[in-house]
Amino acid sequence: MREWQPPAHIATMTMISDYHEIDEILRSKDFRQGSHTESKPLFADSLLLLDGPEHRERRRMENPLFDRNSLLYYDHKALNPVVEKMIADCLAEAGPDGRVKVDLMVLVRAMLHRIAAATTGIDGVDTPERTERFRFFLEELGAAATVEWSKEDHAEVLRRGLALREEFVEEFFGASLERRRKLVEDYRAGRISREDLPIDLLTLLFLHWNDEWDDELPLREATLFLVAATQTTTHTLPHVILHLDEWWREHPEDRGKQFDSDFLRLAINESLRLHQPAPTLLRYATKDVTLRSGRKIAEGERVALCFVPANRQRDVFGEDADQFNPYRPPAANGARPWGLTFGGGAHVCVGRPLVTGLAKRDGAQPTEGTMLRILRALYAANVELDPNDPPVPVASSHHDTYERMPVFLSATKPAEQPAPVPA
Ligand code: HEM
Repeated sequence: MREWQPPAHIATMTMISDYHEIDEILRSKDFRQGSHTESKPLFADSLLLLDGPEHRERRRMENPLFDRNSLLYYDHKALNPVVEKMIADCLAEAGPDGRVKVDLMVLVRAMLHRIAAATTGIDGVDTPERTERFRFFLEELGAAATVEWSKEDHAEVLRRGLALREEFVEEFFGASLERRRKLVEDYRAGRISREDLPIDLLTLLFLHWNDEWDDELPLREATLFLVAATQTTTHTLPHVILHLDEWWREHPEDRGKQFDSDFLRLAINESLRLHQPAPTLLRYATKDVTLRSGRKIAEGERVALCFVPANRQRDVFGEDADQFNPYRPPAANGARPWGLTFGGGAHVCVGRPLVTGLAKRDGAQPTEGTMLRILRALYAANVELDPNDPPVPVASSHHDTYERMPVFLSATKPAEQPAPVPA
């Protein structure tokens, strides 16, 4: 596993690595959002950067995007058809040995970009070419949105992101926004019913429009959702494949479990715990605070909450906390299986149910979540790492993810594959 180095932008802050202290700070009303100061032009006044009553009100309005009904709608409209079609398209390219080599990073990104487009309300992300163009924009917007983590020139990353945002508006955002504005007008005028409205962020913003918002607010809110939805799951999912590959080599008795959804879910939780797409969150103290541990934090002090060490803390996750172990017993102190990876308190990740799914409750249908759905499809297509072409870690940022991860997919199990056709 990659060693974590605190990036330069947090080196001068008070770094907090203790699980209990971080949990207390995230839940405390005496701290406010401290992340995304440099990337503010992209996110200003979006859910992530609001605090207090304004944040609560926006959050209450947006929460329904991830309730059970909405998740079932995304499953049917975006997730299942996209995952199945994209795997089938790959397999259609298989050679005479039944196998096709693909870059898992590219494949997973493309799937997630289409799903993010559906949940945010961006139209026209429907062909490989348009998905690739959309991905290009989001990659640049994502780099600018997380500029604090960049190893490149920050001013240049930000300038490039903002310039490309204008092209993004022209090619994708403008028409999608207009269509939703019109749909909501039609709904208010009684020309269409509520069921005819799509379930997505932009539609929701028009349904609950607040006259204090400026015209660009939907663009910044959509940027937050698009970046948050694509630059996170894509970072984590390949780690599950790598961990399981290693686990099965060391535990051959578990080999058949690639089709066992319960086992895969445990593996996902462990990977989420060990690899955070957002490894540090920042907070400002709004008054002098003494934590339960006795640590004092002065009013106005900015603290860096370091999830990597906290999520590997032995008194919370056990003696082997820095290891991948899908059979890890539940933490005694109520910690979630993924630890702090989705944050906590008021800003806890609103999209988490989309990623991990919702359990069956009171007879309500469960939802699978993007990670499990994509993993199941990959294992059904016999995903295997290429031993001669190992994964390449990302070099341009401090993020714990990969530039490329070559894998083979095949429609039949390797043992059942036909003998290679002689040349
Ligand atoms: C593996 C996947 C994901 C991880 C690990 C993750 C992690 C996080 C974390 C740590 C936060 C807290 C930020 C803070 O407190 O400053 C957060 C907030 C947020 N996430 Fe996620 N996220 C994931 C997926 C998603 C998805 C799929 C969406 C949307 C579809 C999403 C939308 C958001 C939004 C809008 C917020 C801001 C919430 C608020 O400020 O109230 N995330 N996420």
